[in-house]
Amino acid sequence: MPRIEASAVETLTEDAARARHAALSDAIAEADRLYHGEDAPEITDAEYDALRRELEAIEARFPALAGTGTASAAVGAKPSSRFEKVRHAVPMLSLGNAFADEEVEEFVARVRRFLNLGADEALAFTAEPKIDGLSLSLRYEAGRLVTAATRGDGEVGEKVTANALTVKDIPETLSGSGGPAVLEVRGEVYLSHADFAAINARQEAEGLPTFANPRNAAAGSLRQKDAAITAARPLRFFAYAWGEVSEPFADTQSAVLERFSAWGLPVNPRTKRCRDAAEMIAHYRSIEAERADLGYDIDGVVYKVDDLALQRRLGFVSRAPRWALAHKFAAQEAITELLAIDINVGRTGSLNPLARLKPVTVGGVVVSNATLHNEGYVQGVGGDGEPIRDGRDIRVGDTVIVVRAGDVIPKVLDVVLEKRPADAVPFVFPDTCPACGSKAVRELNPRTKKLDAVRRCTGGLICPAQGLERLKHFVSRNGFDLEGFGQTYVEVLFEAGLVRQPADLFRLDFAPLKAAIVARREALSAQRRTDAEATPKKAAKKKGEDEDKAIHNLLASLDARRKIALNRFLFALGIPHIGETTAKALAKRFSDMQAVITALDAAAQAQAGRDWLELSGLPRIGPGTRDKLFETLDPTPGEQIEGLSLGARLRGRLTPSQREAVLAHYGSEAEAEAALERAAGQRPGDAYRVFADDGEIGPVATDSLIQFLSEAHNRDAVLALLDAVETTPLEAAANAAAFAGKTVVFTGTLEKMTRSEAKATAERLGAKVSGSVSAKTDLVVAGPGAGSKLKDAEKHGVTVVSEDDWLAMLRDA
Ligand code: IVH
Repeated sequence: MPRIEASAVETLTEDAARARHAALSDAIAEADRLYHGEDAPEITDAEYDALRRELEAIEARFPALAGTGTASAAVGAKPSSRFEKVRHAVPMLSLGNAFADEEVEEFVARVRRFLNLGADEALAFTAEPKIDGLSLSLRYEAGRLVTAATRGDGEVGEKVTANALTVKDIPETLSGSGGPAVLEVRGEVYLSHADFAAINARQEAEGLPTFANPRNAAAGSLRQKDAAITAARPLRFFAYAWGEVSEPFADTQSAVLERFSAWGLPVNPRTKRCRDAAEMIAHYRSIEAERADLGYDIDGVVYKVDDLALQRRLGFVSRAPRWALAHKFAAQEAITELLAIDINVGRTGSLNPLARLKPVTVGGVVVSNATLHNEGYVQGVGGDGEPIRDGRDIRVGDTVIVVRAGDVIPKVLDVVLEKRPADAVPFVFPDTCPACGSKAVRELNPRTKKLDAVRRCTGGLICPAQGLERLKHFVSRNGFDLEGFGQTYVEVLFEAGLVRQPADLFRLDFAPLKAAIVARREALSAQRRTDAEATPKKAAKKKGEDEDKAIHNLLASLDARRKIALNRFLFALGIPHIGETTAKALAKRFSDMQAVITALDAAAQAQAGRDWLELSGLPRIGPGTRDKLFETLDPTPGEQIEGLSLGARLRGRLTPSQREAVLAHYGSEAEAEAALERAAGQRPGDAYRVFADDGEIGPVATDSLIQFLSEAHNRDAVLALLDAVETTPLEAAANAAAFAGKTVVFTGTLEKMTRSEAKATAERLGAKVSGSVSAKTDLVVAGPGAGSKLKDAEKHGVTVVSEDDWLAMLRDA
């Protein structure tokens, strides 16, 4: 896009200005899309700002043009320029969700179990409204606001300090004294209903697009390059959490909120301290009843363990605290007609049905597409064989109920059978992949013996839908994190046939890359309205230079990834059931990818049979208990089992609830015994159990890995990639941790924490927790009553410490 100085704008005729305005507007819209949508900007910030300034100069001279064109229409909805990135000192996490009351009770019970609290021991929670806005982190140093950052991806956010300072609820300096030298306050920025309505009325009066809901308006307002625009939008703020702090300043969540308030930070007045699940749920109900009168959007209630020492003990699972839960309000619904069902092929080959709907407003947002999840969902049969919607199927032409909850994609919830047209026929799901024509099948779940609800393409890496989706996943932030590669380049290179699988990326040279990118640019500009006169040669040359620079950057970022953490490598492969947590668990056990492959090949030779898998998948039955079950068939010496029912034999080995779970699953003692016998005959070898008995991996992920490697084209693709890329041990965070790579064994009775807590804490610090002591064990933590493991430790010369010593080590870690 050529530059025209502001002075030149003064000489434009109205027609020329209109053409120029349209071209600028398109260029800005495309740049916005690449930057925000693809994370792959093609122009510099300065160039972008110049385009914007020119557009504004034209609009200042020809006000009639304001509001026309793609980009000017976006002003206000999107930030008009870029923000500096800020890495959060403490990541901004998300929360586990619940909808039903029972889930809240289960949450409280889970926390109590984890902390090993007796029935008469008190455990308080706070219950706070869950504000539906966007979270913001405010860093105060010596009581003065120095940085404000949006959540971003939780690790890195955008710096919006100047904008935050225009928010009246956010103090520039904290009042009172006694605050920590460094204090990161976290909370929610939101807009009141009244202010939201006023903003939309103003947008409408100015011919600008309106916002769908207060949250979008708040986000659009905070992320403005021009803080004056933010200042004109009356944003509000509630503080509810904290990030980095130089010293502790409270012992409970309630006390934190009191201190916040004393320092001049607004906290939500509807927060209540509750003593049990019943009080929490009662408070949830009362907030729900008040919801419409609050004057701002909330989407649920957040419960948090009040005592911060207990919060620390509870820690985190994946990216959510164990000590908190978001109890969401039921979603908003609407009724409309199902016009068609399209099938998309997902990254892992799942055939995903998508409902095309007659557009309808659901809670203020127009919805015309909604997910139908999978084939089973359309048919009304879940993966567990249980009926969905009492078995009602969904047909094209049906009147359907659509729900939308928060950010998630809307979904078709139910069908109104009375309105079904007489000629509506059951939807026939394709049995071939719409993208590559390979067979699409539904797997039999070994545990439930039911058909998987999802139909999948068997084309693996040869399926274009999967190939492209897998590549996009491969380069994504949590995978190879190929900055600048963005999704666009992957698409261009894939379509040009230059990159079909991950290894191809590492074979790219400058020339073919350039050719593909130029070809795409030309195709794009042929499509677009072009202003021939306004595109002199000089600009094309400039564009070429920029492209060269971009290509060199791409190649450099590829080179930087020739060494990559094993967990990223594994996650990037996009293997079904291998998410980030599982990938990390694998990387904790193995030092490089070759070791993973070797171990998996051994596991494939030692696989379990179906009945063993079924038994391993039972609720409440972990690997240890499962193995105890086998002892009932194989009595310990001296044990008399003759004539004893299975139930009686299980009594000494399982807790009542475990026993119930086993018997309920198999239906009767006789069935359970027969199944146990079969399972015992199908026990896998140790090579398989290394994976399957790891609580963070488990049999489903193990089988998925084995299945993946059993396909020649997948194995070849991984080996080809390993020719170019070397994997390194688990990523920094855990590695830097005090117990990285150490094997710890707990034995005897622990008095200050439960086994699961001890295990979770050790693992959080990078340790592996094992059940038996060998020469490879680094540390044994022994409580009273420790027996044979203590002897083993002595035999192997392993250090033994008490529970108190261990706690002291944790404090130092
Ligand atoms: S606590 C580690 N408390 O909900 C836990 N979050 O779904 C930090 N939110 O990202 C969050 N009201 O943006 C917390 N009273 C509240 C909240 C709240 C709204 C948002 C927040 C968070 C999201 C998680």
